Amino acid sequence: MKIFSKKKDSVSVGLDIGSFSIKVIQLEHLPNGDAKLLGYSMKEIPREAIVEKEIRDHEGVLDSIQTAIEKVDPAIREVSISLCGRRVFTDILQVKIPKKKENLRESIMVEAEQKLPMGTEGLTIDYDIIKESPDGETAEVVMVAVHSDFLRDYVLLLQDGGYHILGVDVDYISLYNVLKQNIDIETDDPQVIINIGHSITNLTFIQNKVYQGVRDISSGTLDIWRSLQNRFRITPEDIHKLMTGASQWEDPAEFQSGLFAATDELKMGLDMAFSYFENLSKGQSISRLYITGGGTLIPFLTDIISEKLEIPHQILDPFSRLVYEPSLFTNQTPDKVSPMFSVAVGLALRRD
Ligand SMILES: Nc1ncnc2c1ncn2[C@@H]1O[C@H](COP(=O)(O)OP(=O)(O)OP(=O)(O)O)[C@@H](O)[C@H]1O
Ligand SMILES: [Mg+2]
Repeated sequence: MKIFSKKKDSVSVGLDIGSFSIKVIQLEHLPNGDAKLLGYSMKEIPREAIVEKEIRDHEGVLDSIQTAIEKVDPAIREVSISLCGRRVFTDILQVKIPKKKENLRESIMVEAEQKLPMGTEGLTIDYDIIKESPDGETAEVVMVAVHSDFLRDYVLLLQDGGYHILGVDVDYISLYNVLKQNIDIETDDPQVIINIGHSITNLTFIQNKVYQGVRDISSGTLDIWRSLQNRFRITPEDIHKLMTGASQWEDPAEFQSGLFAATDELKMGLDMAFSYFENLSKGQSISRLYITGGGTLIPFLTDIISEKLEIPHQILDPFSRLVYEPSLFTNQTPDKVSPMFSVAVGLALRRD
């Protein structure tokens, strides 16, 4: 199965299978190039149904997927999904374009073989061209290799539910597509998208306005939940309500200082990932953070991360340039939920 999607329908659906919740986005691609949000939904999955991106409870996850999809449109059968985590490898390769362009895949496989320490056996490999040199001689491509059995788990799960997978992407690239669609990148300086999820934080590094590398940190909001729960001696039910906005902290200042300490682990992971990138880019440092993901919705969190890293930030809101009927948001303003949907929007946007 190919990893990168190619779809041309005017309506597309992005399905983000997260370890906290399932997110669904349905977009219509309008003739003038705009994308219209037709529907969105989020459904939490049972606790520990997905651990480190491995599906542990097929039935529980599928049930949540069905509920989330039906809330948007019960007729949906075709979806695009996305993968990330330790069973997905991504690298940027410089390859010579062969005389016969159809041989490009072969050249990339040769490069991949050298780049992947464990070889290519048992992996599904695909690539996408980032840009070609002006003389057409070389290309910069992003190569993605996924453990085939990991991919198969997701494919079989959706097949069981009667869904057809139109395309498989990776979170980092979905996020990059969302950034491109919603923000005009004005500088060539290195910048980074930080997608703070429940169990994982994905980073997509950008330089010269294109992506240059990706990294995962195995720390997300779950670590923050645990730290706050221990510090304030709160029950699992209460921490769940507090961290999803269903109830409010009695003393916001106390919460804020607890959160400051609770983000130490995430900060450490970010520091490590940033030094990886800074090595790669010969010492240039990150000038801006685009923060997104469900973690963005936790009060004070983005400010704290920005303050700790001493780098300015802005929130990446995947709905900011979508067209939609105001009636889609009757109970809340869009920005109260939108950052959670970045990966799903990126999946639904992709059509090339
Ligand atoms: N209104 C909200 N509803 C749900 N989650 C929220 C809300 N506000 C903040 N959050 C936080 O978002 C976090 C989940 O983020 P997200 O949905 O991006 O994770 P995920 O995609 O399911 O997980 P992962 O990508 O790590 O597998 C929760 O841990 C929660 O604390
Ligand atoms: Mg996620």
